[in-house]
Amino acid sequence: MDDLISRTRAAVWHPCTQMKALEATPPLAIARGDGPWLVDTGGRRYLDAISSWWVNLFGHCNPRINAAIIDQLGKIEHVMLAGATHEPVVALSERLAKLSGLGHAFYGSDGASATEIALKMSAHFWRNARQEEKNGFVSLRNGYHGETVGALSVTDIPLFKATYAPLLRHTVQVPTPDARLAEAGETAEGFALRCADALEAHLVEHAAETAAFIVEPLVQGATGMAMYHPIYLKRARELCTKYRVHLIADEIAVGFGRTGTMFAIEQAAI
Ligand SMILES: Cc1ncc(COP(=O)(O)O)c(C=O)c1O
Repeated sequence: MDDLISRTRAAVWHPCTQMKALEATPPLAIARGDGPWLVDTGGRRYLDAISSWWVNLFGHCNPRINAAIIDQLGKIEHVMLAGATHEPVVALSERLAKLSGLGHAFYGSDGASATEIALKMSAHFWRNARQEEKNGFVSLRNGYHGETVGALSVTDIPLFKATYAPLLRHTVQVPTPDARLAEAGETAEGFALRCADALEAHLVEHAAETAAFIVEPLVQGATGMAMYHPIYLKRARELCTKYRVHLIADEIAVGFGRTGTMFAIEQAAI
């Protein structure tokens, strides 16, 4: 195990990690996974209570998923989707369309690239509609949408953003409905409605130059699991329709059952 730790210190740039900290707190040297458990090279088991940053929904080494991957590897491991298609991508896209009620599925490589794609699709839509001036983006204060340059522009967490500020495009942040920020005696619902009024005040003035409003539905994860009332999403949907602005639901952290419904926006009945 010690050998692996010294090799990782020498060779691997660990993300979201101050490399100096690795000297005092070495990373876990993981040998294998088993459902919710991680097992290190010395055989010690750890409960992966954060699902490896909420990615691993179905457990490590899930036998059904592993069997499907192994089966697919024997047929074709990868082929580009530009100019080619295949049964698994069509079947998955059909299922996603049914689940989401949306149209075609576009595939990205991770959460940040999904954000980039959504922002670009929105701006591209307005360009095709001959309204190129609608290319601005609005997001919530304390929101997180990834750390590539476009995604970081709509992220609002200084820890991730401040260093790269000179590289980023200007975007606008409106008040977050984070229920913890409600005034004494104010309900989460009342506070959410007040924040929705602030969104409307912004859109009244700026819809003409706004392509989209991007939100983390129900829970702002990276800022500290800030929960808010679903009425905010319902109002945001109405306002985005009224002012002709796209609503982008960033379900990267909350989608696929993590808040009890398949997608978090379902809890706002939108
Ligand atoms: C809401 C949200 N959007 C985007 C991302 C970025 O995802 P990735 O780390 O896969 O780029 C995350 C990551 O946690 C997230 O929580």
